[in-house]
Amino acid sequence: ETIRDRNFRRPEDEVRALKKGVHGLIQEYDQTYFELEKSREHLFQAEKLAMVGKLAAGMAHSVRNPLTSVKMRLFSLGRSLELNKAQQEDFDVISEEIGHIDNILQNFLEFSRPPRLKLQMISPSEVVDQAALLLRHRLESCNASFTIERSKPLFEVQVDPEQLKEAFVNIVVNACEAMQDGLVITIKEEEKFIDDGSQATVIRITDNGPGIPRRIRQKIFEPFFTTKEEGSGLGLSIVARIIQEHGGSITVESQEGKGTSFVIILPITSQKESVNEHNPDH
Ligand SMILES: Nc1ncnc2c1ncn2[C@@H]1O[C@H](COP(=O)(O)OP(=O)(O)O)[C@@H](O)[C@H]1O
Ligand SMILES: [Mg+2]
Repeated sequence: ETIRDRNFRRPEDEVRALKKGVHGLIQEYDQTYFELEKSREHLFQAEKLAMVGKLAAGMAHSVRNPLTSVKMRLFSLGRSLELNKAQQEDFDVISEEIGHIDNILQNFLEFSRPPRLKLQMISPSEVVDQAALLLRHRLESCNASFTIERSKPLFEVQVDPEQLKEAFVNIVVNACEAMQDGLVITIKEEEKFIDDGSQATVIRITDNGPGIPRRIRQKIFEPFFTTKEEGSGLGLSIVARIIQEHGGSITVESQEGKGTSFVIILPITSQKESVNEHNPDH
């Protein structure tokens, strides 16, 4: 095609070329608009978080003190009162709901607290066991079967056991809340080589619950995203933050009607390595 030819393009071609150009422009505009909307949403989210964090911390602190006293009084009442069956039921519901409120507050406090890890060398298996102990009652009350698949305890890694335990608990509690009967929860532990050739700890928490619909799967780690009437939507955002602070990652695999797996990967930095870094003669 020479310049001459182009100058003598037929009008249909002219129109076609124009149409293509306009179409491209529209597409670009759409893309820009989409990106603008997305960053606006991020900003909004960040502002919302900052504000809510401050409010929640103040609120939660001031509400929690009287609540603790209510809890204690209720506990001592429960030991001394002689109640009939209906009264006992009322009493139990009140205690449970107060526990529920306390949980929500704790979640908010946890969320607004600036995170600081208290790292120690410990096998994540030990943390899984601690979490299981904490969850025993909960698992019984939701009638779940619970197994840990472990060939040998995981290598020791640098973690904050308290925080990691909280992450495990949040995930298992979600599984309990997702299904009433016949719930089976498995925690599978192993070490694996990951993409960069280093070894990592892999902890997979699987349930046979209803699964998470694809369209919301990306949202579940966002703060305040919940599908529950009484949910705070903070559980998994706290989990994600804890795992990220450990230099790890968390992903979700889910099949509707079949179940859900949360896969946590933690980097292994052996004590030897970290000692050598500080003390090359060692
Ligand atoms: N094991 C699971 N099975 C099905 N849905 C789940 C599971 N874990 C999390 N989800 C979904 O992710 C959402 C967010 O969870 P989370 O952040 O813990 O907040 P909350 O539990 O307060 O709703 C839940 O509302 C639920 O829809
Ligand atoms: Mg939750």
